[in-house]
Amino acid sequence: ANTAVKVSIDPAQDGPVINRHIFGQFAEHLGRGVYEGVWVGPDSTIPNTRGIRKDVVGALKALKVPNVRWPGGCFADEYHWRDGIGKPEDRRSRINASWAGRPEPNSFGTHEFFDFIQQIGADAFISANVGSGTVQEAADWLEYLTAQDSSLAKERAANGHPKPYEVAFWGIGNEVWGCGGPFTAEEYVTKLKQFSNFSTNHNKNMPTQQVAVGPDGDGFPEYAEVVMNAWSKRTWAWNIEALSLHRYTRNGWPPNIPATGFNQKQYASVIKETLGMNDFIKTNIAIMDKYDPEKKVGILVDEWGTWYAPTKGTDPGYLEQENSQRDAIIAALNFNIFARHADRVRGANIAQMINVLQAMILTDKEKMVLTPTYHAFRMYVPFQNAVRLKTNYDQGVYKEGDINLPKIDVISARDNQGRIWVAVTNIDPKQSIDVDLSLLGKSIASADGEILKAPTIDAVNSFAKPDVVSPKNLSLKAINGQLKFTIAPQSVSVISVKSQ
Ligand code: AHR
Repeated sequence: ANTAVKVSIDPAQDGPVINRHIFGQFAEHLGRGVYEGVWVGPDSTIPNTRGIRKDVVGALKALKVPNVRWPGGCFADEYHWRDGIGKPEDRRSRINASWAGRPEPNSFGTHEFFDFIQQIGADAFISANVGSGTVQEAADWLEYLTAQDSSLAKERAANGHPKPYEVAFWGIGNEVWGCGGPFTAEEYVTKLKQFSNFSTNHNKNMPTQQVAVGPDGDGFPEYAEVVMNAWSKRTWAWNIEALSLHRYTRNGWPPNIPATGFNQKQYASVIKETLGMNDFIKTNIAIMDKYDPEKKVGILVDEWGTWYAPTKGTDPGYLEQENSQRDAIIAALNFNIFARHADRVRGANIAQMINVLQAMILTDKEKMVLTPTYHAFRMYVPFQNAVRLKTNYDQGVYKEGDINLPKIDVISARDNQGRIWVAVTNIDPKQSIDVDLSLLGKSIASADGEILKAPTIDAVNSFAKPDVVSPKNLSLKAINGQLKFTIAPQSVSVISVKSQ
């Protein structure tokens, strides 16, 4: 028999706004993420606009991608922005020492990145080079990007962009306890202060949030404490608006979780690992609350996602992996965790956008396929900048051997047009759930919805069969002011509810 769950939403109890930046993306110079995934060059036979793939831009537009973090990742701390500006034929190539020792041609640099994000309508999240760069190099880059009238601004204009760019986020290093350093937390704070002080945004059309490196799911917890303690004693000369957290769904090192061909026990243990994101965020919020009770500094989980064993036949340094229905469920569960902490979590960036780790899109030459994760992002678009509402329900228990997990995970929100949205994930891969949904104090008149379900939990979309996992219409009918519907096992649904 199906499990029955009553969900009641209180439209009168507003929570915080679910910042649209929670649905941010990350595009690093890694494997086939930027080169092939985004950039094919203007001479390619693959349809492109100034070298940027048209099919990929078209698909990403539907996600209303709020921001793209670039150029890394570990690559950011070996990146020298001057290598990537000027005439294409004059760009110097280097070895991408972080990722597979691949030559980095620098054909995709600052102007190409901004062209790309302008084509998809996203904001810029730039990670500055702290590890191998200088304070001056970072300061110059931000001036080059944002100044109206200086030699660097003129150089930008000569390179094709007279108008200053807008930089929404400025990351001061990446994983500086590891690939971006390595520095102790105290050593990093010294650098953070300098980079923050000398990195100036000159474009007043958009404020730039400075982002400090924080801890990782696997270690360096002291970073939150040391950075926030220093911030609490800051002077006028420096500031940060956000602390970065990184956490992958991974099982130690090297990555060993199979991306497909897993059983239900393995599925459950990966979901359990993912749900650990909640405790990770809570632990860091508790530290931040000590130094910043007014919540001035936000959390950006600017790297998250699944990190599985690489796809057979690919270079392990390219981090290419299959993406299944399990990934869509993982994406939804993470969105829900971020939304529940929306008063502090003001952004997140899935790793990564195309062809790398938990990607939205996979490409093979001229072919492109949308992953289940892509569909989860698309279905959650209405939650961008929506007001979270109080949602009451009993999570139930999905038991797999000795692992106990919630059966159902639900969030709800009201968008700026007053529409109410509900996202319901059935984590259980075996049982359907009969949902009985009501709005406190209101009567439901009608509802529309979509469901993302799959024949098997490890179902993937391939170039040959691109629609194995794709959203379907969810048939919904309001009866006596309530909504009763059944959701399939291992599924994600998003419903819009109209009241009378
Ligand atoms: O996303 C892949 C890598 O994971 C990033 O470059 C790094 O920041 C993290 O360790």
